[in-house]
Amino acid sequence: MNRKVTVVGGAGNVGATVARGIADKQLADVVVIDIADKKAAGIALDMLEACPVYGSDARVLGTGDYAESAGSEIVVITSGVPRKPGMSRDDLLSVNFKIMQAVTEQVVKHSPNCIIIAVANPLDAMAQAIYKLSKFPRERVIGMAGVLDSARMRSFIAKELGVSVENVHAFVLGGHGDTMVPLPRYSTVAGIPITDLMDKATIDRICARTARGGLEITELVGTSAWYAPGASVVEMVEAILLDKKKILPCSVFLQGEYGVRDLFVGVPCKLGSRGLEKIIEIKLTPDEDAAFKKSAAAVKELVDVIKV
Ligand code: LAC
Repeated sequence: MNRKVTVVGGAGNVGATVARGIADKQLADVVVIDIADKKAAGIALDMLEACPVYGSDARVLGTGDYAESAGSEIVVITSGVPRKPGMSRDDLLSVNFKIMQAVTEQVVKHSPNCIIIAVANPLDAMAQAIYKLSKFPRERVIGMAGVLDSARMRSFIAKELGVSVENVHAFVLGGHGDTMVPLPRYSTVAGIPITDLMDKATIDRICARTARGGLEITELVGTSAWYAPGASVVEMVEAILLDKKKILPCSVFLQGEYGVRDLFVGVPCKLGSRGLEKIIEIKLTPDEDAAFKKSAAAVKELVDVIKV
């Protein structure tokens, strides 16, 4: 294959799930970078050995050496400390910011033209840190959160109604934290808004479960989730590499859209070969707008702490 995607922090659970998804789908060659370089090499080798079974000619390589990542089209940054039970995403702020500083420098040095997908928590603040540190245009730094939060909401809606997940679309905007904003009005089953299909109490329960979806997994497993986050990143990588122009909720640097400026917050985005190709603006109701602004304010608080 002649396309290359690097996954930094690739020996971790989320990173490895991303690397495997890309290799299995034969989207690109994959470089798995991790400070745990031996583990990265082993995990990558294990994935490479799975490729014949999947019929994939992706070459997967694991290393601690960023030189191997040179010229990547996309770099996924999953590095960072995951949550332990009882920790909020925000508790990770300063420790993960230091990691972003070290990682971003290497990514920019070796892949100056890449598109970065940010995955570390607290998501929006870390995406903003990477954006500022990289000095990349905003089109090339995109945070993964909304795809994951929407996937969780889709799975809950499908289960509640006993319908195929393929029929279900969900829209979750705002920051990837407790203040995220699920939008029932724009969440549909075969095109029908869920507000026509379920009562308010059920919808409220689904929205609340979505907002604490990460926490629910962390409490059960003892560390943060990886299957759904990994799958969500792979969907974004695919949209970009295949220039699909797919509309997905992502955290991007807003410049006045939705009434927010100079801040990463989750909004509907068109992803294609140039990365963020368009922000889709929808008119929010006063309640939705208030929830969105509250969520943006929560991101701003974090960004102010690390001064990015
Ligand atoms: C979650 C973590 C990854 O939502 O933020 O599962």
